[in-house]
Amino acid sequence: MEGVEPIKTGLDNVFTLILDGSKRMVTRNLVPGADQEFRIWDPYHSKLAASILKGLTIPVKKDSMVLYLGAANGTTASHVSDIVSEGTVFAVEFSPRAMQDLIRISIPRINLVPILADALHPNSYKNMVPEVDIIYQDVAQREQAGIAIRNAGLFLKKDGYLILMIKSRSIDSAKRADEVIENEMKRLKEFFTIKDSMELEPFHSDHMAVVAQKNIL
Ligand SMILES: C[S@@+](CC[C@H](N)C(=O)[O-])C[C@H]1O[C@@H](n2cnc3c(N)ncnc32)[C@H](O)[C@@H]1O
Repeated sequence: MEGVEPIKTGLDNVFTLILDGSKRMVTRNLVPGADQEFRIWDPYHSKLAASILKGLTIPVKKDSMVLYLGAANGTTASHVSDIVSEGTVFAVEFSPRAMQDLIRISIPRINLVPILADALHPNSYKNMVPEVDIIYQDVAQREQAGIAIRNAGLFLKKDGYLILMIKSRSIDSAKRADEVIENEMKRLKEFFTIKDSMELEPFHSDHMAVVAQKNIL
């Protein structure tokens, strides 16, 4: 990427640049002394990257504290760690196989804390996670709104935000995607005010990205 000038986006540490004639999104690499100053962020491999490219309002700042549920092998979590260069990402994942990669990725990243746990049971990691500004959730599970509500109750600050990637097929493969998403949104609205939402076509089918603010109860 030498000689290519990155252009700022509205998001801290996220840029676009023209590479081989096409526009790519990148984050500024947090890892000190790494070869690349900027890392390409592929919207086909990250629902958050797709959401940003499609213009979803993302309330993450460079000093945000983030609870990330469903971190998998850390692809997106590593870019969130780049974005929150003065904050921290607490990354929960329940697959021991994925956790091996997540741990490897987190070693040079001082702000990425891997946690092997089930997001359905947030009490099990209560002692490791402080109050956070943002919950980012991307779990392939039936109970997606339920997981968000439980975690928000324990960890999300009063006016904090949830960024939820709703995968309609994981919830109920027999129902139509729009019906499933409508039901999840209804549940969310008991605890959150929906601020923005959008489908992630053409990058990810049957997915809806939702940004919601915790209601003051
Ligand atoms: C679609 S993948 C996440 C991809 C990742 N967010 C990324 O963009 O790089 C969903 C992940 O959620 C994890 N997961 C599913 N249910 C979970 C649960 N109850 N607690 C923690 N992780 C869970 C799966 O093991 C899987 O790694």
